[in-house]
Amino acid sequence: MSGIVVASNRGPVSFDRDERGGLVAQRGAGGLVTALAGVLPGRDATWVAAAMTDGDREVAAGAAVPDAGFPAEMRYVVVPPDRYDAYYNEVANRTLWFAHHYLWDTVRSPVFDRATEQAWEDYVAVNRAFAEELAEIPGDPPFLVQDYHLSLVPRFLRELRPGARIAHFSHTPFAGSTYLRILPARIRDALLRGLLGADVLGFQTGTWAENFLFSARAMPGARVDLARSRVTLDGREVLVRVYPISVEAPHLRQLAQTPEVRKLRREIARIRGDRALLLRVDRLELTKNIVRGFLAYESFLRANPGWRGRVTFLALLSPSRSEIPEYQAYTDECLAEAERINREYGDHGWTPVHVSVREDYPEAVAALGLYDVLLVNPVFDGMNLVAMEGPLLNRRHGALVLSRNAGAFGRLGRYALGVNPFDVAETADAIREALEMPPPERTRRARGLARTVLANTPARWLGRQLDDLSRVKRPG
Ligand code: G6P
Repeated sequence: MSGIVVASNRGPVSFDRDERGGLVAQRGAGGLVTALAGVLPGRDATWVAAAMTDGDREVAAGAAVPDAGFPAEMRYVVVPPDRYDAYYNEVANRTLWFAHHYLWDTVRSPVFDRATEQAWEDYVAVNRAFAEELAEIPGDPPFLVQDYHLSLVPRFLRELRPGARIAHFSHTPFAGSTYLRILPARIRDALLRGLLGADVLGFQTGTWAENFLFSARAMPGARVDLARSRVTLDGREVLVRVYPISVEAPHLRQLAQTPEVRKLRREIARIRGDRALLLRVDRLELTKNIVRGFLAYESFLRANPGWRGRVTFLALLSPSRSEIPEYQAYTDECLAEAERINREYGDHGWTPVHVSVREDYPEAVAALGLYDVLLVNPVFDGMNLVAMEGPLLNRRHGALVLSRNAGAFGRLGRYALGVNPFDVAETADAIREALEMPPPERTRRARGLARTVLANTPARWLGRQLDDLSRVKRPG
């Protein structure tokens, strides 16, 4: 195999023009980007992403590319804005993301209609454009296609390059077969067939992989071998595998030592004073269950008056997908809930909840060093990297309260306090238990968490996929 090709909607690097008119590179901060930045050097990597800025479009049109400091050659897929909006907001984020995370309030939503069909055509067109860009890459590289935005790329790429080695990885959960039936039949079928164009389908946990297999079982023409976790369709065999992603520890720990992060750490330590610090760090995202997190904290304060004034809840939330109405409404709800708790429980000397809504990764890294309890309670989450970053960065043997519906629970659950994210009373009890945990127990668990995260590197995540791909039997 030669080189390696990654495809994802959001690229690791984006270009903009600076005041003097030069193209400058902006490095993305997502988990996948930092994970792969450490393992791509020396692999002759190419990364294909959607053009998101004018600078990206210029690069796609052939402008000279300044060194972006990222170890892959960037190629961009350019899509007209309206089409991109339908593909990204309507289909990927409002339909597929909702399905895979069980986000609908099914009494009222979703309602699929002609507009859905139109948006779906745009999703198909963007997936086809990605496949065409990938098909132009010379040589015989393994293609690593990422996430729900690009579910149809494996099939389209297979049509263009029948012998290609293709893997698709879902960073999200995968909806259970009954829930997936909410989608219009045509869309559900196209999704499953699209993914099955790959040789290897990767998921974060066994549960999501199993969900996929059960859905595939209902497809006409597909043969599913549950025991060996394989699907045969059109005479081709597709492996369904579990590759839990991880975080890049050396990079994170380096970042924690920068002067900027040290300064922020001192500031947060000042806000906390001698109180215990309960922390959450999330995108302002429907799946993260931020409102129930506040309700659990309130329930804890109500049941444990002795803790009032002795703990601060810091919620660091970065804005996300703010063009989607459900996200705008949720942002308002989260803020209103925090304000209400502050009004009802706070006094002159104590603000129970501090919320910060901004993109500030250094601030998050600083805060993760300082928590006594980290609350990670998503309703459903493919993995959740914050649950891993926390234990690597924390200096106080902080405890982790973790949703059993986060992929990370599979590995970290034995050292965390597991909660049902819908059960606010259980979450309140877990917050108390975490705050009152005897020091030897805290230390034992914190060390177990850090050890587990360190044992699973992004290099291993990538290497296992490449190994499985290299063993795929090819036609002819
Ligand atoms: C999740 C998805 C990623 C996505 C990220 C941020 O982690 O799995 O594919 O990039 O959220 O979302 P955004 O819509 O900002 O790219």
